[in-house]
Amino acid sequence: TEIVPGKVVRLPGLIDVHVHVREPGATHKEDWNTCTAAALAGGVTMILAMPNTNPPTVDENAFQITQKCAKLGARCDYGVFVGASSDNYKLLPTIGARAAALKMYLNETFTTLKLDDLSIWMKHFENWPPHLTLCAHAEGTHTAAVILCAELCKRPVHVCHVARKEEILIIKAAKERGLPVTCEVAPHHLFLTSNNLDVIGHERGQVKPPLVLKEDQDALWEHMSIIDCFATDHAPHTNEEKNSAKPPPGFPGLETMLPLLLTAVNDGRLTLQDLVDKLYTNPRRIFNLPEQSNTYIEVDLNQEWTIPKAMKYSKAQWTPFTGLKVKGNVQKVVLHGKVAYENGEVLAQPGTGQDVRDMQATPSQQTQSMETQHGHHHHHHHHHGCSHHQQSS
Ligand code: NCD
Ligand code: ZN
Ligand code: ZN
Ligand code: ZN
Repeated sequence: TEIVPGKVVRLPGLIDVHVHVREPGATHKEDWNTCTAAALAGGVTMILAMPNTNPPTVDENAFQITQKCAKLGARCDYGVFVGASSDNYKLLPTIGARAAALKMYLNETFTTLKLDDLSIWMKHFENWPPHLTLCAHAEGTHTAAVILCAELCKRPVHVCHVARKEEILIIKAAKERGLPVTCEVAPHHLFLTSNNLDVIGHERGQVKPPLVLKEDQDALWEHMSIIDCFATDHAPHTNEEKNSAKPPPGFPGLETMLPLLLTAVNDGRLTLQDLVDKLYTNPRRIFNLPEQSNTYIEVDLNQEWTIPKAMKYSKAQWTPFTGLKVKGNVQKVVLHGKVAYENGEVLAQPGTGQDVRDMQATPSQQTQSMETQHGHHHHHHHHHGCSHHQQSS
């Protein structure tokens, strides 16, 4: 795409498949109102909300609590993840069709849901319906381990926030073998490395996976075609929490992702097509997400600005990207035919967002589902494990 000076470009409303909304349980960090305002200010019109809340979204009761918060507070469309615990693999499929996807935490991070036992991982891989998405926080050697679990159960797996060279290389190798793995990369791993920690602060700069070496960052850029999605992993903690001696890991990211990516477009490191693929087309296919009617964003590719100390809408009120010079900004967001963001102001009101699982399915998503892609078709919605699959495929 040729960039005409001053020209405003129209893109689809972006989809962020990895967002920590913090409500219920930690509304001093963020809530549905502020999080979805930050999303719209960043050109994101649909978010998928992670389950490491309080209570964690691990059963019907907690799922309904989160859904209620979302319904009251959301200014953009959303889906709600369920989280894998050591004993909920039998009950989660009953929530399956109403959830955004299943999330499994396999490494140390900001969660009470870390799973240590490989047999428990397998129980979830067996029980979660294969036509629904299964996502894993699986760093380092765990990346290889979840890909093996997926292969043994003949089902897809989506690897969250890939950061290291070894992770993207093992995913590349798996894809070349035709294994059903997809992945996402967060902006902070594309635009920051451990070299930035002297400026951000070594404690404040804690995030999972951590900021790693330039060599790791280079590997992500070099293997851009292996990256299915960009996702913020928007993980707000307050300034006070981040400045403490043992800060929780996580960065806010919703309001800064698109400006950073547009800067890379201006620098010729990405194309606008890459943005549409990785923030719209692929998320829709991998998570089976509906089309948002009359929804689009307008970005100014030529606006140059410096990322301030804090962005406007997230309660985090700090950003690891402070001081970075960017070129590109969100000018306008239209969601379901209404102006949701313009002139730096979020106009969409809390409670206007819709749950993606209540929205009308479109024919395009049915033909583009992950499952159809790798040739395993389901007409049933009952839950079933590996053995059924070994027989049927
Ligand atoms: C996330 C959080 O704070 O919820 N933190 C992080 O460093 N990424 C948890 C997670 O995504 O691992
Ligand atoms: Zn994670
Ligand atoms: Zn996360
Ligand atoms: Zn089946």
